[in-house]
Amino acid sequence: MANPVEENNPVLSQVAEKGTQSLVAVAGHPIHAMMVAFPIALTMATLGSDVFFWWSGDPFWARASLWACGAAFWLGVAAGLAGTAELLFVPGIRNRAASWTHAVAAMMLLSILGMNWGLRLYADESVILPLGIALSGLSAVFVGIAGWHGGKLVFDHGIGLMISSNG
Ligand code: HEM
Repeated sequence: MANPVEENNPVLSQVAEKGTQSLVAVAGHPIHAMMVAFPIALTMATLGSDVFFWWSGDPFWARASLWACGAAFWLGVAAGLAGTAELLFVPGIRNRAASWTHAVAAMMLLSILGMNWGLRLYADESVILPLGIALSGLSAVFVGIAGWHGGKLVFDHGIGLMISSNG
């Protein structure tokens, strides 16, 4: 169904005319949407294992955080590459301000994850309290912001939807 706001606004209706079908996809299913579950879950797992480390002092949790954070960062970079290709090459995605809001939030998330992982890689586990756990908390906030805006692209703007003409 046509969005009445887009219909009544000439600028928005021009944006709405541009195609939003995913380019980086398997049988029309966006690869980015398939990949983002991993960095989202691993970001939350990093915060969880930092809390367990704080609570128990067991170095096992420090190592678990190191691996979870590194995997969140690199899988986030991989998902980000697929998302960036969609952003740059699909006109209906590139033309929407909401896509750029999501991309900026996602880049901030990746920067925090990279810093959190890099710190742990070169320092001992004392870096977790308080700096590492603070970065993990911040990355959990940014995963929420980036994920929320990513969801808006799909559910509010219909990006990547396959609309069947025969129902
Ligand atoms: C530079 C980085 C990124 C860009 C340019 C980008 C771009 C996009 C685009 C264009 C979509 C619409 C669906 C599609 O066409 O695939 C999307 C959806 C989404 N993105 Fe990103 N993205 C980036 C990174 C991330 C990261 C790092 C996360 C989370 C860790 C994330 C979470 C999501 C979510 C949750 C959706 C909704 C998918 C769904 O509900 O199935 N994105 N993103």
